[in-house]
Amino acid sequence: MAENVRVAVRVRPFNDREKQRKASLIIDMRGNSTYIKNPEDMAAEPRSFAFDYSYWSHDEFKESANGYLEPTGGRYADQRKVFNDLGQGVLDNAWKGYNCSLFAYGQTGSGKSYSMVGYGSNKGIVPIFCEELFKGVEAKKATAGENEEYQVTLSMLEIYNEQVRDLLNPKSIAQKGGLKVRQHPSKGFYVESLVSCPVSSYNDIENKISEGTRNRTVAATNMNATSSRAHTIVAITFVQKTPNETGQSMTRTSVVNLVDLAGSERAESTGATGDRLKEGSAINQSLSTLGNVISALADLSMGKKKTVVPYRDSVLTKLLQNALGGNSKTIMIAALSPADINFDETLSTLRFADRAKAIKTTATVNESPTDKLIRELREENARLMELLKTGGITLEQLSANAGAGGQNPNQDSSEEIEEMKKAMEEELRKNQEEIENMKKTWQERLAEQENENKSNVDAELKKQEEKKVIPHFWNLHEDPALTAMIVHFTREGTSKIGNKNASPAPEITISGLSIQKQHGVVTNKGGVVKIKAIDGKILVNGAKITKETDLHHNDRVLFGPNHLYVFHHPQDEAKNVKEGKVTETPTYDTAQEEIAKKAGFMDKAGKSEEDLILQEDVIQMLPMVNEADAMSAELDKKVKFELALVSPQARGLKGGKTEVMVKMRNLENGNEWLWDRNKFINRKFLMQEMYQNYVEGADDWDVPKEKDPFWEDADVEVLIGTVHVHLMSLSHKLDIEETLTVTNYQGKENGHIEIEIMPCTPKGEGLGEDDFLDDPKELVGKELNFKFKINFGRGLPSNMRQSCCKFKFYLDNQYTSTAYGDGMNPEYKFEKLFKFPKCSQEFVDYLMESVAVIEVWGKQKDTSPKGGATLGTDTKQLMAREKSNLFGLSNYEEEQAKLKKIGDNKQTPVKKKGGNKAADSNKDNGVIIPVPPPPAEKKQNDQQVNAYKKQADDADRRAKAAEQRAASSESQVSDIRSLLSQKKKGGAETITIAELEAMLGGGGGRSATSTAQKEHMGDQASKACTIQ
Ligand SMILES: Nc1ncnc2c1ncn2[C@@H]1O[C@H](COP(=O)(O)OP(=O)(O)O)[C@@H](O)[C@H]1O
Ligand SMILES: [Mg+2]
Repeated sequence: MAENVRVAVRVRPFNDREKQRKASLIIDMRGNSTYIKNPEDMAAEPRSFAFDYSYWSHDEFKESANGYLEPTGGRYADQRKVFNDLGQGVLDNAWKGYNCSLFAYGQTGSGKSYSMVGYGSNKGIVPIFCEELFKGVEAKKATAGENEEYQVTLSMLEIYNEQVRDLLNPKSIAQKGGLKVRQHPSKGFYVESLVSCPVSSYNDIENKISEGTRNRTVAATNMNATSSRAHTIVAITFVQKTPNETGQSMTRTSVVNLVDLAGSERAESTGATGDRLKEGSAINQSLSTLGNVISALADLSMGKKKTVVPYRDSVLTKLLQNALGGNSKTIMIAALSPADINFDETLSTLRFADRAKAIKTTATVNESPTDKLIRELREENARLMELLKTGGITLEQLSANAGAGGQNPNQDSSEEIEEMKKAMEEELRKNQEEIENMKKTWQERLAEQENENKSNVDAELKKQEEKKVIPHFWNLHEDPALTAMIVHFTREGTSKIGNKNASPAPEITISGLSIQKQHGVVTNKGGVVKIKAIDGKILVNGAKITKETDLHHNDRVLFGPNHLYVFHHPQDEAKNVKEGKVTETPTYDTAQEEIAKKAGFMDKAGKSEEDLILQEDVIQMLPMVNEADAMSAELDKKVKFELALVSPQARGLKGGKTEVMVKMRNLENGNEWLWDRNKFINRKFLMQEMYQNYVEGADDWDVPKEKDPFWEDADVEVLIGTVHVHLMSLSHKLDIEETLTVTNYQGKENGHIEIEIMPCTPKGEGLGEDDFLDDPKELVGKELNFKFKINFGRGLPSNMRQSCCKFKFYLDNQYTSTAYGDGMNPEYKFEKLFKFPKCSQEFVDYLMESVAVIEVWGKQKDTSPKGGATLGTDTKQLMAREKSNLFGLSNYEEEQAKLKKIGDNKQTPVKKKGGNKAADSNKDNGVIIPVPPPPAEKKQNDQQVNAYKKQADDADRRAKAAEQRAASSESQVSDIRSLLSQKKKGGAETITIAELEAMLGGGGGRSATSTAQKEHMGDQASKACTIQ
C-alpha cells in the first residue's frame, strides 16, 4: 500500500557565534506546526508549516556530567526522543523485511549529522539503530533454532562531485573518476564493487563507521575538498533466514539507507552570480536533481499524469530511486538553523520538506524461499554467460537490455556494446558472489572478515592507548564530524613531515596542496617537542615559523594552506591540570580566527553585530583564498587572489553591509576583477576539481580558457570606482560643474571625471541669473528641468581599454549609462535632459541632502605579458616579485596584513599622521589602508617597517584629502558657482585650476582637492575646467 514519506523538522540551539552576536530566534514550534518569522519584518504574521514531527531542540536542556544534552523542560527533544519516534519505526520495519530510508536535509551546520550520527555521548539515529538492531539479534539468537540466521552487512559511500567513493575501501578513494554506477535489470542501480562488510556486533559497526569517516577525512583534507558538498550514505543490509511453518528456509531482506545529504545552501546560490561558468548547476547536480525528483514525485502523487521523474540525472537519485519512489519506507528529517541570518535557507528547507511530504512510496516485504533466490540467481547467471559466450550481443538484445545500462538503444556503436558486455560481466560477477555468499555459512564469512579487520582493529586500539601517553597532532576540520579523526604521533626522536612521494616515507605523511616532500621536521627529546619548517610553510598559532619553534599542549599548527592540527601533549596537559592551568581546547573556528587576526584582519572587541558577521565571513573566506592562491601557484595560472572588504558605498549603494569579496589579479598584465563571495566559492570548487585532475596525472587537466576557473574575460566589466555628486546647488537652481575624483573600494584614486548639471527650460535652454533660488523650499510644487552631462574622464587606470559611467537619479529603477569612451582619457560626451514638472517635498529634500553616485565601469585591455617582462617567469616567481614590489616583504602573512580597514586598527600601535579623525570619517567609504606588521616582527627588519610607514603615510594623505573634500560644504559649492558664473559673464571661455585656486584663496579642502587634481591630470588640467 502506498504511504506518504514521513517528514520531521528539528531546530538546533544557537551556536557560539550566534550567541555572541545576539542573533534573534526566528523559529517557533507548537504541536506539529513550525513557524518561521522574517527577520526584516518580525511583527508580521509568521509563516506556518505542518509536519509529522516538529522537534524543538533549541533550548530547555542542560548538559549532564557525561556530556549528554537532556531536557529541563517539556519542550526539548533529545536524541532518544528523536530515535524513539523515527529510528524505532525504521528498526521495526527492518525486522519485518521492508527497505527503509532516512534522509537528513538542511544547510551546512544546521544539525544533519547531529541527528543522523551525533557527537560523543549524544548518539544519533545511526548508532542507536545499530545498537538496538544487535540487541534484537542477540535476543533472537538466544532462543534460535539451528536453521535460523541473522546477517548484518554494512557499506558506506560518499558522492562528491558526481563521483562515488567507497569509504570502506581506501583504494577506491584514490581511483580516478570514482566507482561506476550500474543498473541491474530488476534490482535497480548499484555501485560496482562496493565493499559490503559482514558485521557481528555493535562494536564492529562502530569501528567500520569510524574507519569510513577517517578515510573520508583524509581524502577531504588531501584533496582540499569542500566536504559539506558530499553526500554520505551508510547502507545496512539485514538478512534473516528462518524456517517457515513447513520447515522451508525463508530469506527476509531489508536494506536500510541512512543518508546525510550535502549542505543544501549551495542550491540557492546557483546562478545568482551570473558567472560565465555556470558552476552551480554542475556542482549541485545530485542535490538539485533530488529537488527535481521530489517535485516530480509530489506532482505525481497529486495526480499529474505525464510527469517524468528524472532519477537518471544524478548519481544520488539513481542510487536512491527506491528510497524516493519505490519499495521503501522513507523518512526525511529537515534540520533547521534558528538564527535570523539563515532565514532564506531555513525557509527554503521548510519548503523542500513540505514538498517531500506529498511523496508516496510503496514498500513490500522482501521475503522469499532461500532456495528460490539461489535458483533465480543461477538461472540469471546461466543466461548472461550464454550471451557473453556467443559474443553475439545483437542490437535487439542491446535495446532489450538498454534499461540496464541507461544507454540509448538507437545508437549503434561498438563502444556501447563493449560497455554492455562489461555491465553483464559485472552483473555475473556480482551474482556469482551472491551465490557464493549464500553457500558459505555466515560463520565463515564473519571469520574471514574478522581476519581482515583484525590488524586494523588492533592498530586502532593501540593508537587509542598511545594517544594517552605520546604527544601527537589531531586534526581540526571545518566540519565537526571530520574533526579529531586523524592522528599523527611525534615519537621520541625525529619525525619527518612530508608528502607521499618522499622517499624514504616520512614518519608523518600528509598529502595535498603545497605539501612538500620535505615539508618540515619535529623533534621530541625527552618530551620537549620542537618543530621546524624545511621546504614547506608551517604556521604555529597563526604565525609563520622561520626557525625551530617549541610546541606546547593545545598549540595550533597549519601545514600548507589546509592541513590544520592541534598539538596534544599528554604530560604537559597533566602538569597544567595539576597547576590548575586550564587551556581551552581549540576549535576550527578559533584556530582560523587566530590566523585571520595574525594576517591583520579585525579584532573582535567592541564589534557591532554587522562587524561580527563580516568577521565570520572573513574567517570562512580567508582559508579558501589561501588555497586558491596555492593552486594558482602550483598550476602556474599567473593569477593571485586577495580578500577585499567592500563597503556599500564603494559598490555604488547608498546603504547596506560591507561585504567580503575576492580580488583576482592577473600577474602578467595587472588586470583585476572583483568577485562576489558566491562566485568565488563556486570558482574555487572548480579550481579544486582541476587541481585534482592535475594531481591524478590526467593529460587533459588543463581546459580551454572559456572553461578555466582561473580565467576571466577582459571584456567582463569591472568597477573602476565611484564618484559622489552633491546636489545642493541644483536645489538653488545653480549650475554644477565639477571635476570629481573616482575612488575605488580601497579609497584609492582612480582618475577623474568631469560632470555638469545645468538647470534649464523644458527645452533645454539655459536659465538666467534671476532664476536663482535663495530658499530651495520654494521649489516645492514648481518645475525643475536640468541637463545632466558627463563630459569625459581623465587619468583612469592605464590598463583600461574602454569605460562608461552609470548612475541612477532619485527614484530611478534603471541605470542611465553613458556610451563607452576609450583608454585612460575617455570622452563620454553624455547629455540627458531631466524634467520634473512638479517637485515634491521629498524630491527637494533629496536634492538638499543626498548625493548622486556615478559608477565608472571599465573593460580592461586583453594584453599578453607586458613587453615580455614576465615571459618565462612562473606564478610562484611572479607572486614573490609582486610581494617585493608592493611591500618590500617576503612574508606571505605580512602581505595579508596590507588589507586592513581603518578603524579596525585598534591593536596596531603605529600613530598615523593625520590622526584618527580622518580615518574615522573614511571608515564608511570602505577605505582600506595597509597596516604595519605586529610589533615582534617589526623589529626584525627596519626596511619593512619603513615600507609600511610610507604606505601608511600615503594612505593617510589620501584619507586626509578625502576628508577635506567631504568637508567642503555645499555653501562653498554655491560660492564657487557664483564666482564661475561671474567669470562666464565676463566673457571668459576657460578657467584654469590656478585661477580657481586663486579665487578660493587656497583655503580649506578645496585647494587640497585641486592640487590633487592637478597632480593627477597633468596636461589636462586647464582643459578640465572649460566653461560652457
Ligand atoms: N539538536 C542539537 N543539539 C545540540 N547541538 C546541536 C544540535 N544540532 C546541531 N548541533 C551542533 O551544531 C553544530 C553543527 O551541526 P552538524 O550536525 O554538524 O551540522 P550539519 O551536519 O548539518 O552540517 C555541531 O557542533 C552540533 O553539535
Ligand atoms: Mg554534517
